[in-house]
Amino acid sequence: MCGIVGYTGDREAFPILINGLKKLEYRGYDSAGIALEKEDGIVVYKTEGKVSRLEEMVKDKDLSSRTGIAHTRWATHGVPNAVNAHPHLSASGKLAIVHNGIIENYQVLKEALEQDGIPLKSETDTEILVNFIEKIKNETGKNLFEATQLALKRVVGAYAIVLMDADAPGRLVVARKGSPLVIGLGKNKDYIVASDASPIIAQTKTVYYLDEDEVGLLEPGKEMIIKTLDNKKVNPRLTELDMTIEELEKGGFEYFMLKEIYEQPKSVYDSMRGRIHPGKKIIRLGGIEPYENHILEADRIIMVGCGTSWHAGLVGEYMIEELARIPVEVEYGSEFRYRNPVIRPRDVVIGISQSGETADTLAALKLAKEKGALLLGICNVVGSSIARETHAGIYTHAGPEIGVASTKAFTAQVTVLLLLALRLGYLKGTIPRERYEALIEELAKAPDLIEKVLQTDLQVQQIARHYKDMKNFLYLGRGINFPVALEGALKLKEISYIHAEGYPAAEMKHGPIALIDENMPVVVIATKKGNYDKIVSNIREIKARNGRIIAIVTEGDKQVAALADHTIEIPEADEMLSPLLATIPLQLLAYHIAVMLGRDVDKPRNLAKSVTVE
Ligand code: G6P
Repeated sequence: MCGIVGYTGDREAFPILINGLKKLEYRGYDSAGIALEKEDGIVVYKTEGKVSRLEEMVKDKDLSSRTGIAHTRWATHGVPNAVNAHPHLSASGKLAIVHNGIIENYQVLKEALEQDGIPLKSETDTEILVNFIEKIKNETGKNLFEATQLALKRVVGAYAIVLMDADAPGRLVVARKGSPLVIGLGKNKDYIVASDASPIIAQTKTVYYLDEDEVGLLEPGKEMIIKTLDNKKVNPRLTELDMTIEELEKGGFEYFMLKEIYEQPKSVYDSMRGRIHPGKKIIRLGGIEPYENHILEADRIIMVGCGTSWHAGLVGEYMIEELARIPVEVEYGSEFRYRNPVIRPRDVVIGISQSGETADTLAALKLAKEKGALLLGICNVVGSSIARETHAGIYTHAGPEIGVASTKAFTAQVTVLLLLALRLGYLKGTIPRERYEALIEELAKAPDLIEKVLQTDLQVQQIARHYKDMKNFLYLGRGINFPVALEGALKLKEISYIHAEGYPAAEMKHGPIALIDENMPVVVIATKKGNYDKIVSNIREIKARNGRIIAIVTEGDKQVAALADHTIEIPEADEMLSPLLATIPLQLLAYHIAVMLGRDVDKPRNLAKSVTVE
């Protein structure tokens, strides 16, 4: 949800800012802008469209400057156009701001500005905020840092902001609440600040994750000053980033999404590394060890997440209930937080989130915390808000995921959930020793099995060619593969804009069967171990109605192959592992259809990777 970058130091700001925006474009890409400090004031360039358009727009301009801020937007207030794009200037033109988040009480602030006759050009809450800060600054005679502290105390909502002041050259003021902001400290005490670490890594690995309600002053050559809104001094704890630049590049792939699909043998391996010891038949999850007894005594586990992470939660529900016999409920973060849920101290709430920043998931966790539950996080981004809000957690270690449609983060989440289910089942004694050991062995082989499934790529591409012009798709699965069907449908709609629905196969006869004809392909996950006979019956029902079937089957399957129009084989594995394997062809199918339709696979319209607003 919007990406922001700021730089101040002894180098040219523009290339750092524009390259930073390109790294953050996954967060939103409907308009982009940049503000640079010049001798005679601040200049702003902004445009509707992607960062490449901004780059094109400024190519003949004098861009030399050592201090600037930049923004790539996912519109919340006001349509995506150049006027609503960030940065926004205050009425005097002296302050410039970039903002990620939503100011909820903007109407109250706006009225205060209107009383003073301050003109507004855009429809955004952000322009109101910068003018409100300027109003406080003028009224109190304070500097920008202090005025920002005072103003933010009266702001309700979520924000990560970076501000510059034409009267205080070289300085950036930063603040956050609810939306993430990372400050990178360069070798020459120059500063680059951004919504996540990806624009920073090329400049420095030393960072400070700004905390809730903190305001910072960044001035080249000087120590950063961090204070709370109440003006308490904070000693910033610097950390070292553990990602590499290569991880953030496409590495020869046409799209990040394809690269990330192909990274899954490694990312699944990384999510198990150090946790699974096949020789010793042991699983250890260091992050949650101190809380294991608490979890074992839990009345129930509630998982919260959004989008793909919610689907991973549904897979986890099957795994934990089957292997550890603890009741599990899975909730959308957005629903959970607004329905006065019953939560007791003996509940364990697990937040699942790739970014660790999704506003609804975060809010759901905060609510559960207030009610006394133990919170665990399954996050990919180290140091993210959800990782910090929870009592303990298990990082997925999938590496940075840039494609907006989640792929490797999903399989890493599923892997971690299986590790958790196995660990709990082992401790509780609810899983027969033999199955436990066999599952550990199979899980250790999962990266190789995924590698094998990736070899179906060409075949999936050919299937995609047959169906790319269809307007609707149905995805069916049973049991643990029902959420995989949901995830397959989500992938297709996200990146190809084709309508797709996921259903439990047996539910088909309660509605979707009415839609089946030769123009609605049905993708069925029909692996041997999961209710195979039942799903074969479902396939017959579809064929009896002229439906066309793409089936994901277990290697060597003849029965479904004889019925389906296309079959994609995946290796035989324990049912618990099938989501890890069956998901891969579905990701590839969505990918190839989207490419064939000429879609922007990594940046699908209207979406953003990290949804930091409600
Ligand atoms: C957005 C993304 C999805 C993602 C969801 C949850 O909608 O486009 O790909 O699954 O947010 O994100 P999270 O970071 O919490 O997993």
